Amino acid sequence: MAQLWGGRFTKETEESVFKFNESFSFDRRLFYKDIEGSVAHVVMLEKQKIITLEEKDAIVKGLTSIQEDVEQGRLTFEEGFEDVHSFIEAKLIERIGDAGKKMHTGRSRNDQVALDMRLYVREEIVSIDDLLYDLLKVIYRVMSENIETYMPGFTHLQKAQPVTVAHHLGAYFEMFKRDRSRLKDLYNRMNFCPLGAGALAGTTYPLDREYVASMLGFEGATLNSMDSVSDRDYCIELLSSLSTVMMHLSRFCEETIIWNSNEYRFIEIDDAYSTGSSIMPQKKNPDIAELVRGKTGRVYGALMSMLTTMKGLPLAYNKDMQEDKEVTFDAIDTVKDCLKLFTGMIDTMKFRPDVMARSAMNGFTNATDAADYLVKKGVPFRDAHGIIGRLVLLCIEKNCSIEDLELEELKSISDVFEADLYDAITLKTCVEKRLTKGAPGPKQMNEVLGLYEKYLKDRNVLYQSYVKE
Ligand code: ARG
Repeated sequence: MAQLWGGRFTKETEESVFKFNESFSFDRRLFYKDIEGSVAHVVMLEKQKIITLEEKDAIVKGLTSIQEDVEQGRLTFEEGFEDVHSFIEAKLIERIGDAGKKMHTGRSRNDQVALDMRLYVREEIVSIDDLLYDLLKVIYRVMSENIETYMPGFTHLQKAQPVTVAHHLGAYFEMFKRDRSRLKDLYNRMNFCPLGAGALAGTTYPLDREYVASMLGFEGATLNSMDSVSDRDYCIELLSSLSTVMMHLSRFCEETIIWNSNEYRFIEIDDAYSTGSSIMPQKKNPDIAELVRGKTGRVYGALMSMLTTMKGLPLAYNKDMQEDKEVTFDAIDTVKDCLKLFTGMIDTMKFRPDVMARSAMNGFTNATDAADYLVKKGVPFRDAHGIIGRLVLLCIEKNCSIEDLELEELKSISDVFEADLYDAITLKTCVEKRLTKGAPGPKQMNEVLGLYEKYLKDRNVLYQSYVKE
């Protein structure tokens, strides 16, 4: 058991206590961030004449060799260390001797871990944003290919009015665009450096916190040392944003599953993204969509867990906060996997325009347009609504669509109907005439797609201050 403390203790830690307390089994994930933070810290210590140039060089060299050895597999994360911070410090001292003991001057694990976690989360925000961008590109492509692919639009899962595949998917484009902007807000809010907060009350060494902050690509240093070591708001905000991403993915998955079902057959999920049944040979199941939908619960769980962990904590650092890691890591991994798989599934699935158009035609999705036809001929909307209602009843009796009725039959309900009704209620007209901003009409849709094209031009437009190589 390698620990960073022990001076005041007269007994060894119980094995079970050590195991319960340790975080090395999961915070090893912060290894690279810990090294990055430590290098910046000692460079600043030297600049401030708190350590000598030789000591700084020895520490940086030591840390670099530790990092290289881990990368090359020459050094492994062996058992017995309390956390990633003690592992690295122990290895450093082993390698460079006394100079290594100076690395922790003016620092506590409290601000150190606060820094590591921020660096980690900040980077993950960028990679999740990247995956959202990839998904948006795929949605954009499918949209541009399907501006005139008609399908029924639903409310209450009842056929309502005709829309297009481009329009339906455009709704998701908006959702994922908002998800990106939520991540960007979070990024900007959290991009301040906690290092130098010490255990909780700063330090008596003349640290240059702004210098460290700028070396590490932060906007600046945090303004309250107690808050710096005990703030996990950004984890909560991340988990909340990720929960929303999952909620959006889950809705899309649900639709994919419905559309892929035997009853709908609007789409076909690619074989590479489907699975079979061990007993029923005919089956091709949408497991990936179901799993993404299912994993949403896990990410919500992480959010609830983190909110609950934080709720009663007095200032400043408490060990409870160690619980931030596993849930946050798990949520990040889950969302990244889901985004990758989901994007591949959407990219490869086939739409069936004929089935969708047929479905759009046989559920009275043009009833509103038929009422609007009457309104344009001077019938007040409420009366038109009643007339079309009676027309629909007649159709249900005859098991046909409005456009299947003879002109005489139409006239038997209202003599305002003329032969031009048939043109006014085709799928094409119903969609084409929808010209309001945000509507599915092709003119509108092309304008929106133009905006989306511009939006997609620059992948990193959201992150001017920190762009990952
Ligand atoms: N493993 C700890 C965590 O994740 C590191 C900070 C430990 N600080 C302390 N005072 N024990 O929170």
